[in-house]
Amino acid sequence: MTTKRPLNVVKIAKMKQQKDRLTMITAYDYPSAKLAEEAGVDLILVGDSLGNVVLGYDSTIPVTLDDMVYHSRATARGAQHTFIVADMPFMTYHGSIDETLKGVRRLMQEGHAHAVKMEGGIEIVPAVKAIVQSGVPVLGHIGLTPQSVNTIGGYRVQGKDEADAKRLMNEAKALEQAGAFAVVLELVAEETAAAITRELSIPTIGIGAGRQCDGQVLVFHDVVKYASPYMEKRFVKTFADVGSQIREGIEDYVNEVKSGAFPAENHVFKADEGVSESLDSLYGGSAEQETPKNEGQPSAKEEVGAQR
Ligand code: KIV
Repeated sequence: MTTKRPLNVVKIAKMKQQKDRLTMITAYDYPSAKLAEEAGVDLILVGDSLGNVVLGYDSTIPVTLDDMVYHSRATARGAQHTFIVADMPFMTYHGSIDETLKGVRRLMQEGHAHAVKMEGGIEIVPAVKAIVQSGVPVLGHIGLTPQSVNTIGGYRVQGKDEADAKRLMNEAKALEQAGAFAVVLELVAEETAAAITRELSIPTIGIGAGRQCDGQVLVFHDVVKYASPYMEKRFVKTFADVGSQIREGIEDYVNEVKSGAFPAENHVFKADEGVSESLDSLYGGSAEQETPKNEGQPSAKEEVGAQR
């Protein structure tokens, strides 16, 4: 079990100077967070990709602040020694600053996050400044910003031509000046991401943004191929195939219940000696339902491993 202390924004900034690449993965609940922490990631993102990979929506737009708070709290319980960033969901930071800060308060106090992430550039600078001034670290997110998928015309690579590359550079600089501690670059041409990474003093964390970023982030379900809808994307690498293992395990379970192979002798709890005969004489018994005699099995009172 790990006893390490979570990173903080000062250490994260130092990691860029030391060229120590940041590793980030999403998690949404206790088991995914626990496994991510045990595997040694630097940061966990409770991403609003929750909508796609856990809740079954076809975009992140339906994800609510309540969803994020609930999943962030479960994640924090599973990864008590890891720096946790929670996404501000769709339209929770485009109204008044007061409203924005209320959402941030919930993610920090109820969701137990250490920082929040927000999608957008120049237009969210006032909100970023207000959040940072209130003492909460902000992770920026530019490039492909899934919450604005309807205005950017689909899931397209950003920063491919000079004008778009300059736009992204300006957005990244504006976020840095507003106080963001790092910026996620999603689906950005490698050369553009590399230039932004060189230009900023804060770390860039790439997803589909090439090899020169200061760190990388991937979605948990993509990394381990756990029924993820993103699986075929070029920027994703899957490092394990737990989805197939889970499916095969459940198929075996179904088959064994159907065939009677499960539960077997070692999965059952036996009544005291004589109880079977007494039940048979009281209620009648059939040869087919007869169970084996209690031979060295734990009694029902002992119930080893029967907490549920
Ligand atoms: O919600 C999410 O998982 C994200 C990552 C893809 C960066 O924003």
